[in-house]
Amino acid sequence: MIVGVQRQMGEATNLRTQVGIVGAGPAGLLLGQLLHLNGIDSVIVENRGRDYVIDRVRAGVLEQGTVDLLNAMGVGGGLGRAGLRHEGLHVSFEGRRHRINLADLTGGKAITVYGQNEVVRDLIDARTATTRPLYFDAECVSVGALDSPTPVIRFQHGGTDHEVHCDFIAGCDGFHGVCRSSIPDGVLTVYERVYPFGWLGILAEATPSSDELVYTCHERGFALFSMRSPTITRLYLQVPPDESIDDWSDEAIWAEMLERMTARDGWRPNVGPILQKSVTPMRSFVVEPMRHGRLFLAGDSAHIVPPTGAKGLNLAAADVLVLARAMKAHYERGATAWLDEYSDVCVRRVWKAQRFSWWMTSTLHRFPGENAFDHRRRIADLDYLTGSRAAMTSLAEQYVGLPMEVSFDSAGL
Ligand code: FAD
Ligand code: DHB
Repeated sequence: MIVGVQRQMGEATNLRTQVGIVGAGPAGLLLGQLLHLNGIDSVIVENRGRDYVIDRVRAGVLEQGTVDLLNAMGVGGGLGRAGLRHEGLHVSFEGRRHRINLADLTGGKAITVYGQNEVVRDLIDARTATTRPLYFDAECVSVGALDSPTPVIRFQHGGTDHEVHCDFIAGCDGFHGVCRSSIPDGVLTVYERVYPFGWLGILAEATPSSDELVYTCHERGFALFSMRSPTITRLYLQVPPDESIDDWSDEAIWAEMLERMTARDGWRPNVGPILQKSVTPMRSFVVEPMRHGRLFLAGDSAHIVPPTGAKGLNLAAADVLVLARAMKAHYERGATAWLDEYSDVCVRRVWKAQRFSWWMTSTLHRFPGENAFDHRRRIADLDYLTGSRAAMTSLAEQYVGLPMEVSFDSAGL
């Protein structure tokens, strides 16, 4: 519920809420729903349109803990109907695929392939059902008074200026958002590594030719086979970081995909019409602390991982669970200890995911300028991985997701 809406001619509309959330990606929408389930008010402000947010093609792999969280929140209906549970994955090198049995190595855990856009659609539907405010197409979004007891979100919507006065602001506005850059210079420590390659990703109308993902290390570079549904294949190709998608015809994309992915036993992806294609640069990035005053950063606004380990969306979910627990304790008991611990609790998980994503990326990709020694060492790494139950167990437990830092119960679920 919004309280205290006042407006006079020519003045900004003043809204009052408990938690102002900037960004309606997975982090912002999940947080809004977790707060709702605890009876805490929020206003979500998103600068893009509803269709754009839903149609944006991004992640596809949900960790076991993220699936459990969505189900515990009561928003797992679509996931249960259309999500594809995978109990294993393949690592392919020197033309041979090696299966890693995730479920067997982790006591029955698995990952679920379910498009991020479907997760976002489900969460927007859930938000709409709560009737709590969610503004799409907000313009000129800014945040201020972060050190004061009532920080503010300002934006324009439908030609009107709005101010949302909040107890707290959650900066869930992704890597390019305004929240992180509103924190004064000198407060944050930035840790960053930019990789000398990017991923060209496609969605193709083609029946997936494998029931499970295939991560391929090839002399010409990395390639990844994934899917979105029983009729849609999702594929990625390592390319130079500044590659223009316009320089890749559909024929050239398929030729390179097949060159890198075709295995000695003849396995290869099925070919079909390309529905969408784009290039994404890759970086590792963390800021600490993930808080300044009454602004809390969550998800990609605070950290980016290279996509190889499929961790980004899952980290966003883990962050907001920790934040929801802290806000629940604050509103129910006036407790501030968990708010104060927020950043420390989150970054422990963030750094483990950073290390895993860096390792997956470094082992599977070809680095410009690498020599024959580097290539042989990477192959040896993969040979060891796929020949050692201990090494496969280590990969499996990180891939399906390390345990969440806080219990669902403590966040009111
Ligand atoms: P975002 O999804 O970026 O959401 C931020 C929201 O804030 C957006 O809706 C944006 O429009 C909005 N916003 C931005 N600026 C403003 C502003 N000024 N005012 C208001 N709103 C604003 N992760 C995985 O876990 N598994 C995977 O398999 C995986 N694969 C990936 C593949 C690719 C090709 C890419 C690019 C990413 C992948 N990721 C994956 C990462 C994952 O998509 C992100 O980590 C995830 O989207 C983070 O969610 P978020 O809500 O923090 O940020
Ligand atoms: C997908 C993306 C990833 O980054 C990954 O590691 C596995 C799958 C996907 O989009 O399906």
